[in-house]
Order: sequence, then structure tokens, then C-alpha cells
Amino acid sequence: MSRPASPYLAPGFYDDALAKGRHRDIVGGRWEETGRLQIALLRDEGLQPHHRLLDIGAGSLRLGCKAVPYLERGHYWATDASLPLMQRGHQAELADPARLPLAHLIEDADFAFPGIPDSIDYVIAWGVFTHLPGENLGRALTSLRHRFPRLQKFLFTLFLADDTAVHAPIAQPDGVVTHPARPPYHVLTRDVFAQCSSAGFAAFARDNRLPRGQRLWVAWPA
Ligand SMILES: C[S@@+](CC[C@H](N)C(=O)[O-])C[C@H]1O[C@@H](n2cnc3c(N)ncnc32)[C@H](O)[C@@H]1O
Repeated sequence: MSRPASPYLAPGFYDDALAKGRHRDIVGGRWEETGRLQIALLRDEGLQPHHRLLDIGAGSLRLGCKAVPYLERGHYWATDASLPLMQRGHQAELADPARLPLAHLIEDADFAFPGIPDSIDYVIAWGVFTHLPGENLGRALTSLRHRFPRLQKFLFTLFLADDTAVHAPIAQPDGVVTHPARPPYHVLTRDVFAQCSSAGFAAFARDNRLPRGQRLWVAWPA
């Protein structure tokens, strides 16, 4: 049987995982550490409580657990390919679920952001494009640029490859093996710059060492 382009597209993937109580595992585990790191990096890039944050591919709200208490009430929005996964996070993981309206969790696998207000200031997509074919980042960048006129910064993670190694599997610094044409995917730095630029963003990759050897990119409207 052929391998799906993303592990999340495997038939029954979410239903099976949720039935087994594995909502933390399927977003990558390392729950506390990664949630804390995401909010710290967002704050480092200027996020403040009055800003409105969109968490693309938010999963079971590993970041939401940190961002919802930090932000003013109602300023956190989440999308994911699976609404039940986000709802599980809301039910099982938030310290104060009343601070996050369920209507702020929106199922969206196309980066169209239906129902998200135009007033979003910051966007993050952590561990999302690492599991999707490369054209998805370009689609998301174009959509973000058109949908959110106040957008200040878009943070996203990727696995990178250099020119000599891009066509073969690569062992990333944390030991994860990435691939050019199946998940987890690696991409060329210059292709990322080109995608950002053609969607109207300037961008750079931060030096931080992140879990699993991902690199954090920061993009802003050029
Ligand atoms: C590795 S998990 C990371 C989740 C979350 N960002 C975090 O750091 O905890 C990747 C997430 O991307 C979601 N996802 C996969 N394909 C997607 C798509 N096309 N659009 C939106 N979300 C997607 C998955 O459901 C999953 O929750």
C-alpha cells in the first residue's frame, strides 16, 4: 500500500489515537518542554498579551495551554486538520477551559482560515510543514498575506537540507531522519526564502536548537 503524503492522512489516524488517549503523543510528546519553548519564542519575537495569536496545526493545544493564560481573554485562535483533536486538548489539558471559547477552534486543512478574524497579529505553525509536502508552506504564506492585514510575524518550523544532501535521507541534529519526498520532510533553505518572497514576506531562520532538529523561521510582511 502506498504511504500517505502526511502521517495525519492515514485512514482512522485521529480516531484511533484519540480512542487510545494518545492526544499528547501524536503531536510529538515532550509536552511541557515544547509548549514552554513555543510561548518563550513567541514572546522573544515580540508577542504581548494584547496581541491576537493564530496557532495553525494546533493539535491538542500543547501551545494553547501556555498561550491562553498569557494572552488577554479571547485572543487565541487555533486551526487544525482535526477538530476532535483540538477539542480533546480543550477538554483534557487547559487549566481554565472557560478562557478559550470552543468557537475559536476551527477545522481547516487548507490554510483558508475560515471564521478567523482579520485582526490576527501573530501566527505560529509548529511541526506542521515538517509533515507536509513543500507546496503547503507556499499556500499558507499566500493565504496569510491576504487574510491578515495586521500580521506582524509568522513563526514556523522546518527541517532543512543543504544543496548536496537534499535528494537523500538526512539524519538531523536530534537524530530524526528526514526525507525529500516523504514525511518528515526536509527542504532547501533557498526554496524557503523563495516561497516567502513570492508571497510578500521577508524571513530568516533562527539559530536555536529545537526539539528533533527543526529550525525556527520568522517571516514578516515585506
Ligand atoms: C506535530 S503536530 C504539532 C501540533 C502543534 N503545533 C504542537 O506543537 O503541539 C502537527 C499538527 O498538524 C496538524 N495538521 C496536519 N496536516 C494539517 C493541515 N493540512 N492543516 C492544518 N493542520 C494540519 C495535525 O493534525 C497535527 O495536530
